[in-house]
Amino acid sequence: MAEGISTEKVIAYFDEVKNKANTTGEVISCSEVSGGRCNQVFRIITDNRSYIFKYSPSSLYKYPEIKVQSQRNRYEAESLLFLSRILPHNIPVIYYYDEDNNFMLMQDLYPANTLANELIQGRTFKNFSKHIIFILQQLSRKDSRLFHLKYNLTKGIPELQKARVEYVFKAPIGISKSVFFQQPIVHTKKWINKYIIGNQDIIKAVSKLEIKYKNNLEVFIHGDLHAESIIVDNESTYIIDLEFGKLGPMGFDHGVMLAHLVMAFYSADYHVQLNNKIEYKHWIKDTIMNTFAACKTICADASRLEEYKYNIRGYCAVEILHRTTSGVAVVDFFSKIKSAQDRSNVEVKCLNFATDLLLSKVCFNDIGAINLRRDK
Ligand SMILES: Nc1ncnc2c1ncn2[C@@H]1O[C@H](COP(=O)(O)OP(=O)(O)O)[C@@H](O)[C@H]1O
Ligand SMILES: [Mg+2]
Repeated sequence: MAEGISTEKVIAYFDEVKNKANTTGEVISCSEVSGGRCNQVFRIITDNRSYIFKYSPSSLYKYPEIKVQSQRNRYEAESLLFLSRILPHNIPVIYYYDEDNNFMLMQDLYPANTLANELIQGRTFKNFSKHIIFILQQLSRKDSRLFHLKYNLTKGIPELQKARVEYVFKAPIGISKSVFFQQPIVHTKKWINKYIIGNQDIIKAVSKLEIKYKNNLEVFIHGDLHAESIIVDNESTYIIDLEFGKLGPMGFDHGVMLAHLVMAFYSADYHVQLNNKIEYKHWIKDTIMNTFAACKTICADASRLEEYKYNIRGYCAVEILHRTTSGVAVVDFFSKIKSAQDRSNVEVKCLNFATDLLLSKVCFNDIGAINLRRDK
């Protein structure tokens, strides 16, 4: 882990910019919020409210070997500033950003919690589908694309994008040595070796999606819409962490988001109490189906609806492969399962579904009835 910034320094910055940022109150406490992989994120509590302080140092926080030269803080702040126009109720308010010192001060969305945390506890949100469909619709608006073109935010932050391609597209199918198999447990590893590595159909399909990801600069994409980038409560749904944003293929965000619901679904048996497990799994399945059915309203060009659906399936599969195989950015849905055997069973179910989805052998509707043809 990179050395990072101290809480004393965070408080000093906060006090220094208080007037300019129009924030008020005396600091009572400042502590690091767990969950940040690339940045250091702090919660500052003052005598009248709380704030989030996001610090983006020159290398990734948990992966200091990855240096990031660009001003990712400026990039994220500009993107959020634009989104405040088209999604004013779905992103945190940015009070201040400091390009020279690499930090951003924003609205604390607490007590709303990450979708990942809520799902693992078996919570369901009746308006989530409606909200996330609206968010996906707004992100892919024409003027969002134009804004990011105008401000030269088209291709994203180069170092982050390079890491993304390596970890998300290359490592999971074994065409990059650097990170592959750092972590997966033995049983999962065997399955991956048997059914993924060297499988030309999978390699071809993932490579095609990788090329599209890099070259099809059609719509603005959040780029990392996993269950810790989504914050929810009963009334609202927010998105955070825009630093992987860029122009990219339609359906990318939608697919990534669905991947996390799929992983939540298959891991439910190990996290959720029996008395609400059935209802919870129904809710996830309904949410997957409702948001998938909304393709028609999200995809502006009806003639490309089939491609949109193909992309959702593909990027959903790629995200699941990435989370189960590459050994980086392991999700709580897996890591919080205590028994290695249980965890591996869940991972293999996810991999079965993902590879079949990728190769168009199943559709989302089959999630509850997947026939585990290859379970060993
Ligand atoms: N505005 C916010 N309100 C509440 N919690 C937040 C906020 N921003 C970040 N967090 C918390 O901090 C975690 C890491 O923040 P994030 O912006 O995703 O950093 P990283 O880029 O390092 O992933 C989030 O998953 C969430 O738990
Ligand atoms: Mg994040």
